[in-house]
Amino acid sequence: MTDFLNAYEPIRYGVTGTDTGIGKTVVACALAARARSLGYRVAAMKPVESGVATRAVSIGGRASDADRLAAASGSSLPRAVMCPYVLEEPLAPMIAALRAGVSIDLDTLDAALAVVEAGAEMVLVEGAGGILVPITPDASFLDLFARWQLPLLLVAGNRLGVLNHVLLTVRAAEAAGVVVRAIVLTALSDCDASVAEATNFDALTTLLPHHTILRFPWVDRPDDADALAAAAEGAGFDLLLSPAAALGGATALSS
Ligand SMILES: Nc1ncnc2c1ncn2[C@@H]1O[C@H](COP(=O)(O)OP(=O)(O)O)[C@@H](O)[C@H]1O
Ligand SMILES: [Mg+2]
Repeated sequence: MTDFLNAYEPIRYGVTGTDTGIGKTVVACALAARARSLGYRVAAMKPVESGVATRAVSIGGRASDADRLAAASGSSLPRAVMCPYVLEEPLAPMIAALRAGVSIDLDTLDAALAVVEAGAEMVLVEGAGGILVPITPDASFLDLFARWQLPLLLVAGNRLGVLNHVLLTVRAAEAAGVVVRAIVLTALSDCDASVAEATNFDALTTLLPHHTILRFPWVDRPDDADALAAAAEGAGFDLLLSPAAALGGATALSS
């Protein structure tokens, strides 16, 4: 059984973003839901999640990213594997861990990833915040994605400022040898687009002509797997579902 499970490489992505709160989890869940609807065995991981209220008073609060990823991927992985480090304060993981007296160990994360990957046909690893957010004083999410050789999905919240944030992120990733497989420009509301929002997609295609750039819409029911899967299909996420696609992607910024 183990030999069979290890007989193929899953499609793997690190999911990063231009900021916190810009749709990384929604986009990851949409891709997971779409892949699942097509019959893929999907597994997801949130290596470190901060801002998760663990006390009883929080009952009724919003679902954690790990909860949302587990629901969308249909995963039955133990939560301690999916998300080995859960921190209460809504701070960068390094700071939240420091203040909680928790030591984040990359070898522990490696071991969890190996369990997540076993038997999976698609693996999604969601970071926290943007790509250089520190996990420890010595390791950012970019370091983790490089360590795990994960091609990236860069989720870019469509608002004024996103061009700079995308270019910075692509430059940082590629300088570290990490492939940016696709940039997903995602709607941040269902309101009419501002001029910036209406022009960002074309601007990104001009600035990054060798990269795959997709648009993801506002979804009225982002906790509904069918709605997410339909949005993912409409956004063209199927091109992210082949192993060859996961290995490809442009590697250089245009000057
Ligand atoms: N495309 C979208 N459609 C509907 N709601 C969205 C969308 N993108 C983000 N949201 C909402 O915005 C909030 C932040 O999104 P989330 O995916 O959690 O961001 P991140 O993972 O980058 O922190 C959530 O409440 C989420 O439901
Ligand atoms: Mg998230």
